[in-house]
Amino acid sequence: MKAIAVYPGKPDSMHLEEIPMPNVRDIPNGQGVLVKVLQVGVDGTDKEINAALYGMAPEGYNFLITGHENFGRVVEVGPNVPDTIRPGTFVVATVRRPGHSIYDQIGLQDMTIDDVYYERGINLLHGYLTEYYVEDAAYIIPLPETLSKVGVLLEPLTVAQKGLNQAYEIQRRLKIWQPRRAAVIGAGTIGLFAALAMRLRGLEVTCYSRRLPPYRNSDLLAEIGASYVSSREMTLSQTSAQHGPFDIIFEATGFSPLVFQAAEVLGKNGVLVLSGITGGDTKAEVNADLINQSFVLGNKVMVGTVNASRADFISGVNDQVKAEAFFPGWLNKLLTTPVHGLENYAQMLRHLTEDKDAIKVYVEVAQEM
Ligand code: BGC
Ligand code: ZN
Repeated sequence: MKAIAVYPGKPDSMHLEEIPMPNVRDIPNGQGVLVKVLQVGVDGTDKEINAALYGMAPEGYNFLITGHENFGRVVEVGPNVPDTIRPGTFVVATVRRPGHSIYDQIGLQDMTIDDVYYERGINLLHGYLTEYYVEDAAYIIPLPETLSKVGVLLEPLTVAQKGLNQAYEIQRRLKIWQPRRAAVIGAGTIGLFAALAMRLRGLEVTCYSRRLPPYRNSDLLAEIGASYVSSREMTLSQTSAQHGPFDIIFEATGFSPLVFQAAEVLGKNGVLVLSGITGGDTKAEVNADLINQSFVLGNKVMVGTVNASRADFISGVNDQVKAEAFFPGWLNKLLTTPVHGLENYAQMLRHLTEDKDAIKVYVEVAQEM
């Protein structure tokens, strides 16, 4: 069967590989789930993997099959797979697999303190841009039929889920935390998901991003009742004066100097969640005394977040179901840019690198059975 792969370390090496069909018996203890891949989304991480900035091949291979945002349908299950996962069930597999630290051992590999991490389609494990995959049922999340058109958005949604679930977990320190106003910085895919998840949690949400409204993403935010402010019209502190103070700020731009502006305007007892992976070496001048003083006198928290646990995938499914009920059709509108078939990987890359307006580029690997 076909798969899209790169030669890690070699820029622009994306190509098609021919690989053997996997088998449920490849997974020990009767826990195997064989999945037919339907759709796979791609993002900045895939772009960086193709640019050889990121990603390693699995042991014994000179190539890495890419793709971590997966959605598929179960074909066959081993004898010990729980009955929530049956042939025909729609499923999404998580991305990171356990290494060695104590967090990995309790199923929180997203919180690993190991230096090396194992992520399907990203680092040391093959991904999902292929026709079929097998996986241990422990890493498979079942989805209801009602999410058959939008399930491919679950993995990127879990990035926002984890950040927010961590924020709420941290804020249990406050005993009666009742967040009311939130800001999302950046109106890209993750920013849109963070805004959605916070609307579904009953917050007033303001999204602060570069572009002047109206455009597709600001319209999408309006549809879920979130406000939009362009950084060309207002500074973040003016935005906070008008729409804040913010109990939560979710940073999702990938431009690190904004983190420190966000820290300046965060409300008392507030939590600032950082989700942008910034591989560069940008330097910025910051109001160090002011930020420090406001954090100390205001009991504020700043937390970084990467990847997602099984629980974050489950809360992501819940939010997708809720989103379909509150804002029918909204998730579908994020699926802006389909590519048909694995053989069109060059087109996929072109959309990913050149199509700045695309919200989600994804490969239709197979049509429904
Ligand atoms: C993925 C995460 C992953 C992170 C770092 C993101 O694109 O969605 O699952 O942990 O990259 O590799
Ligand atoms: Zn990703």
